[in-house]
Amino acid sequence: MRDNAAASIVDRLMSDGPVFHASGTRVWNALPDTLRLLAANVSAGDRTLETGAGASTVIFTAAGSEHTAVSPAADEHQRIRDYCQTIGLDTSQLSFIADTSDAALPALALDRPVDVAFIDGKHSFPHPVIDFHFIEQRLSLGGVLVLDDIPMPAVAVVYGFMHGSPDWELIEVADHRAAAFRKLAAADPDDNWHLQPFNRGYPDYSFAPLSQRIRLTTHHRVRQGARKLRAQLPSGVRRAAPRQ
Ligand SMILES: C[S@@+](CC[C@H](N)C(=O)[O-])C[C@H]1O[C@@H](n2cnc3c(N)ncnc32)[C@H](O)[C@@H]1O
Repeated sequence: MRDNAAASIVDRLMSDGPVFHASGTRVWNALPDTLRLLAANVSAGDRTLETGAGASTVIFTAAGSEHTAVSPAADEHQRIRDYCQTIGLDTSQLSFIADTSDAALPALALDRPVDVAFIDGKHSFPHPVIDFHFIEQRLSLGGVLVLDDIPMPAVAVVYGFMHGSPDWELIEVADHRAAAFRKLAAADPDDNWHLQPFNRGYPDYSFAPLSQRIRLTTHHRVRQGARKLRAQLPSGVRRAAPRQ
């Protein structure tokens, strides 16, 4: 199967309605436009990786990528493999890791960087962040990362970081739920948190009661203002000026 063949598999999935999840009792598949978004971004021969498994795994398989899906339910893997074979897909490049992504991803050794990744495994905090951290390291420059379920706060925090970051370009949001980003630069290896647009809101005193929050924020702004003024003074005057 190649390219658009993967998109046509979405219609097949919709009409067949295979039940992969929760011991074969639940359908937790990504939505149709999300599956089409994956199909549009994967090409035969790509290296691909996902957390979670299901209809999305069928799409990667149909596209002919060398694909790895990480999820703890081995029975789910067998149902996905059986379904792929029933509809005539070649599963020789499909592999599963039957483990949780937080255990499997740190040690995952791939023969080459990942071209397309999909995060749709465990959705409780901090798992989407953990998945993002380990997958980002394996994604090639120019590679595509699709995040499902961005309205969930535990996923929205990853979306918020990526959307503000110059290292990522938002390609598309599908189904009001899944966001595809292209990687433009590798993560900064140093702890320059203050350069990240995500941290622009520092200091965030929202944990404090209102009166304390106002006092802390005002104090911070006054110090910032004084620092800026000092920086504008000629150096001799600056040395004599009192520090805030
Ligand atoms: C929403 S479903 C994934 C749906 C799939 N992307 C699709 O299109 O059908 C969530 C998946 O995460 C898996 N999962 C649950 N806990 C996990 C964990 N800790 N690490 C990785 N995957 C996990 C489940 O077994 C299930 O396959």
